[in-house]
Amino acid sequence: MDEFHIRQAEPGDLDALCQLEAATFSYDQIGRRSFRYLLQSKSSLVLVCYQGAQSARSTMPPALLGYAIVLTRKNSRYWRLYSMATSAEARGRGLGKAMLQEIIHRAKQSAGGMRLEVKCDNAIGIGLYRQLGFEVTDLLPEYYSDNSDGYRMQVSW
Ligand SMILES: CC(C)(COP(=O)(O)OP(=O)(O)OC[C@H]1O[C@@H](n2cnc3c(N)ncnc32)[C@H](O)[C@@H]1OP(=O)(O)O)[C@@H](O)C(=O)NCCC(=O)NCCS
Repeated sequence: MDEFHIRQAEPGDLDALCQLEAATFSYDQIGRRSFRYLLQSKSSLVLVCYQGAQSARSTMPPALLGYAIVLTRKNSRYWRLYSMATSAEARGRGLGKAMLQEIIHRAKQSAGGMRLEVKCDNAIGIGLYRQLGFEVTDLLPEYYSDNSDGYRMQVSW
């Protein structure tokens, strides 16, 4: 795969975000209205990851490979990773880690740490978060809309 690049999302990313969301999650999907709100809110940060080197002859728009959303709540010491996803074809190539590292880099400038929730059976997500220093702090019984359990994870610095 060509190089990928990560940038802050813009209103023009809305359609691609909704498509990736629908393709990724069968539960607790972020709706179009919520994405629109998150894209313009001062208390959220949405990063998107696109395939980088587009051929000069290609008329196809680049494909959205991933997104990560963090809530940057002013009243809290902790930023909250609200959701992240990479497209099925792009997984396991370092995109998720790169987006999260970028968020942690930004969070370190204005927060004391980060929190997130993850399904207990999401071994890949949990592996990624552990790698970047997150630890499980709570079990969240029936946290998700399909009644599955979650973990709260946290990293402080
Ligand atoms: C979780 C998710 C965002 C990870 O994105 P990704 O781009 O595949 O992640 P990366 O390629 O950066 O991998 C980072 C780490 O995740 C873990 N990982 C990734 N793929 C893995 C696999 N197939 N098996 C085990 N661990 C894996 C590893 O710890 C990996 O680090 P390493 O490559 O140094 O070993 C992606 O799998 C996804 O979108 N899943 C569906 C949606 C989801 O679960 N979102 C999170 C909700 S909390």
